[in-house]
Amino acid sequence: MAGEPVEFRALIRQVTYAAKRVSAELRVAGLQGMLGGTGRTNVQGEAVQQLDAYANGTFVNNLLRSPAISDLVSEEMAEGMHLAQHSRGKYALLFDPIDGSSNLDANLAVGSIFSVRAPRDVLATGRTQIAAGYVMYGPATICVLAIPKYGVNLFTYEPTIGEFMFTRGPLTMPSEGRSYGVNDANESGWSPRVREFVDWLRGPAAHSTRYSGALVGDFHRILVGGGVYLYPGDSRYPAGKLRLLYEGCPLAFIAECAGGRAVSEECDILDIVPAQIHQRTPLIIGSRAEVDRFLPADR
Ligand code: F6P
Repeated sequence: MAGEPVEFRALIRQVTYAAKRVSAELRVAGLQGMLGGTGRTNVQGEAVQQLDAYANGTFVNNLLRSPAISDLVSEEMAEGMHLAQHSRGKYALLFDPIDGSSNLDANLAVGSIFSVRAPRDVLATGRTQIAAGYVMYGPATICVLAIPKYGVNLFTYEPTIGEFMFTRGPLTMPSEGRSYGVNDANESGWSPRVREFVDWLRGPAAHSTRYSGALVGDFHRILVGGGVYLYPGDSRYPAGKLRLLYEGCPLAFIAECAGGRAVSEECDILDIVPAQIHQRTPLIIGSRAEVDRFLPADR
């Protein structure tokens, strides 16, 4: 990133600083009574965990320090936040502070997802993203960062010195894989096309099921090992569950940068023009062989 503008490097530093604080808090949350809900629901109607609120506050407080950021959009905030004091900032940061928070009480992996855009592009297609990444808080805390010029690179947090260290990259997603992830409790509401696709994965394509309930971990497995993750729409929720701006678009950007693909049930995720910040989208993401089978690229 040495050739990137100083403001961009400062922004990434604030994101990783917030992630280090979240990582430290996650390690002791069970000891400090920080697991469990707040009793509130967010704008999506989902229960807010104490750590969702903590992580959102940590991200916001750190990002407010960066004059390069003029706008914030978070899963945990009903409205986007325009920072009048940084109105000349070059960047908007869109983020999900804790993704997969239902995993928290069981001490399973969770993540933070982020997307960097120009402020004018917050409601433009995902192709306008400048960079995207996620932090996964698993056995190790890792950061995966996609910047088109450099590809997708993986950094591992070294807690004794407090730094994310370059570990490997640029990463290439295998062109096909042997696992798939989906919540098949929703199967009765799937469209015939989704059902036919999952039948193919289970049958002739002989994929194993791998589904943890946290998108970051499930996507990371696919990024490094190939295969496909899907959260399709169903008869009750035609747009599925995942949010376009801070889940679908950043992961689709990472997938494409690594040679994979991400689609809704109609088109490539990165071609969707968002209508509002908390919009949901079906997501089928992973290796080209599997995603192209679901939605041929030349359709
Ligand atoms: O943000 C939504 C999320 O928690 C994802 O991390 C995860 O993949 C999905 O929801 C799990 O949803 P469900 O519990 O319906 O399978």
